[in-house]
Formats: sequence, C-alpha cells, structure tokens
Amino acid sequence: MMRHVTIEQGRMEIILAPDAASACCEAAARIAAHVRATPEPVLGLATGRTMEAIYRALVGLHRDEGLSFARCRTFNLDEYHPIAPDDPRSYHAYMRAALFRHVDIAPERTRLPDGAAADPAGECRAYEEAIRAAGGIGLQLLGIGLTGHIGFNEPPSDFASRTRLVELDETTRRQNADLFDNRWQNVPRQALTMGVGTIMEARRLLLVATGAAKARIVRDALEGPVTPMVSASALRLHPACTVVLDPEAAELLDLA
Ligand code: GLP
Repeated sequence: MMRHVTIEQGRMEIILAPDAASACCEAAARIAAHVRATPEPVLGLATGRTMEAIYRALVGLHRDEGLSFARCRTFNLDEYHPIAPDDPRSYHAYMRAALFRHVDIAPERTRLPDGAAADPAGECRAYEEAIRAAGGIGLQLLGIGLTGHIGFNEPPSDFASRTRLVELDETTRRQNADLFDNRWQNVPRQALTMGVGTIMEARRLLLVATGAAKARIVRDALEGPVTPMVSASALRLHPACTVVLDPEAAELLDLA
C-alpha cells in the first residue's frame, strides 16, 4: 500500500512507498506523467545508485509503453572535476549507460556540466544560461547524499548558490568510491554542480531516498532545522516538492 502523507503547511508531499522498488517505480511514473503532459519537457536529472532503478523503469516505459523522450531536453545536476566526458567513471558515462542510449533522445538535447572545461567558472555561467534559454527546468529529480547534499552542494551551501565549482566532502568521496576502484582517495576532490538556488528555480522537485543509510539525513532534511548546513532542508521552502521514501529511509521520521 502506498501511503501519502503531506507535511509542511501542505507544501511538501511525502510519499511513503512499501519498498525501494515501488519508490523508484513511483518516481519513474511521475517523470513519465510529466513528459507525457508537457509539450517541451525540460528535465533535471540526477545520478547515484538510487537513480539506477528509476532509469531502468523509464527505459522499460519507453520500450513497452512507447514513452518518448524525443521532445525532452535534460540538464544533469553535477559532474566531477576534473574528469573527461568520455571517462567511464564520469556522470556523462553514467547517464549514457543508464538512460540516454536506451531511449529516443538526441545527444545534443542532453547536457551535463563539462568536468573537463578549461574555464570552470565560464562553463558554470554557460550552464546557467543554457537552462534559462531552455525555459527553465520543469521537473528536477534529486537524490540525497549522506552530507545532506542535493547535487554536490556540500555543507554549508548558500540557498542562493548558483552552478559552481565545489570541494567535495570526504564523506561524499567515501560514499561514491565504488566507481573509483573502491578507493575514496581516487574520487576527484572537486565537482561542478547546480547551486541550491538553481535547483530551487525548477518548477517541480522530486527527491527520492531509499535504504537505512539515508534515514538519519532524511530526518535532518525533513524535520530538522532549515539550514545551509543541510542543503536538502531548502526543499521545504519550495512550493512544489515531492519526496518519495522507502520504509528504511523514512524510519526515523516522526510521521512514519
Ligand atoms: C551523488 C550525486 C548526488 C546524489 C548522491 C546519492 O553524490 N552527486 O546528486 O544525490 O550521489 O547517491 P546514492 O543514490 O548512490 O546514494
């Protein structure tokens, strides 16, 4: 049974799914509904292990139900720095493998920050400009890191922050070591990420968190203080944010 609970003055919708698989299917269904209902969808996409099942579900909807991505433009949240787009450990490679090469989206309609840009500040400005030129992001998919980051907005991240070069926390580098021979020291020290302010401008937000490891940070983000020390707590200020959780990730919430 899917349980819908609404908190924060009716602004944030929290969906408690019966398990991780249905949490990811629910998220995919919402993305699919947005794509079908919108003439020129602009999707904000995320990476990480949680997203893999969501992209598998979207690929399934494309294959079995004809869900078309041809009209979409996509902007990913972040990319390591420095890393080349064709490096198999890059988020460019992750997105090609998880989604882009399985669906009908032209490569030029998909964009991630260029982790190999010679001028990172210029690349970040161009990224913001490209989002604006596309009409802004309609639906932004989000995961959450153990530091409370959305994108790679490590604490403290100003809620007004824009796309920029950031230093990654050791916690994050340890969390993401699997693509780097399980050696956290091999994980790049920096990344280019949309800012919290950039993310907050998306018209709808969809955060997905699964698994017991996320329980503490999910509680901090949803029920702790709204603070730049937990970037995801900013989502409670957004007018249209949905959070999808499995029972393990929701375990420490008062409402669960
Ligand atoms: C990376 C991404 C984040 C994502 C996080 C969650 O750090 N930059 O945007 O939220 O991974 O990762 P996972 O789903 O693997 O727990």
